[in-house]
Amino acid sequence: MHLYSQDLDSYRCYQLLNSMVTPRPIAWVSSVSAEGIVNLAPHSYFNIVSTYPPMIGFCSVGEKDTARNIKATKEFVVNVVTEEVTERMNLTAVNFPSDLSELDEIGLTRADSHKVAVPRVAESPLHLECKLVDIHLYGEAPAHFIVGEVVAFHLDEKVLKEDKVDPHLLKAVGRMGGYYYNKTTDTFEVPRVSYEQYQEMKK
Ligand SMILES: Cc1cc2nc3c(=O)[nH]c(=O)nc-3n(C[C@H](O)[C@H](O)[C@H](O)COP(=O)(O)O)c2cc1C
Repeated sequence: MHLYSQDLDSYRCYQLLNSMVTPRPIAWVSSVSAEGIVNLAPHSYFNIVSTYPPMIGFCSVGEKDTARNIKATKEFVVNVVTEEVTERMNLTAVNFPSDLSELDEIGLTRADSHKVAVPRVAESPLHLECKLVDIHLYGEAPAHFIVGEVVAFHLDEKVLKEDKVDPHLLKAVGRMGGYYYNKTTDTFEVPRVSYEQYQEMKK
């Protein structure tokens, strides 16, 4: 099958992208409005932008609370989604009114951040505290591509092995097309190959 974007409507493009760009990590983004209401919402259009200084980026499509809050207060926290919190993460995508905090409504626990005024989700074992670098608008909705510098990393000891995050302990969850998610514990290692090693392999 070959499809050309010029022939497709926005829903078909959305479906294609969501099912072809997989698996996607999920940034469970907490933010605070100008009025001080804590907001929490999942974003799977999410990835690393720069490793040093550490920066991450995610996309809030359309006019939503997350982008509005970050524009106003210039801070946010990315909480990592694990198997244990997946159902509750999904509930934070409900289109609750802006004056209601998803975090409190769903019964999640706030943990104070160290460098930003936005709380972390205590049920998540990994957090990235971020300060806004830039927001770029793309497309019709429009999509707000939000880039933040990570000013603090928080790692719960229970997901660490020799100071590194162990995927089998973390049990992170990713997003696939439709309503599918993926687990991340069925892992295998593929060491990187140098050019010298590659030449040896070809012999
Ligand atoms: C797993 C998952 C991933 C999502 N990823 C995105 C995303 O990357 N961008 C987006 O705009 N909405 C995404 N959504 C939908 C938003 O979470 C949803 O519209 C939410 O209500 C937005 O909340 P807000 O208005 O508090 O920002 C996702 C929903 C789920 C369940």
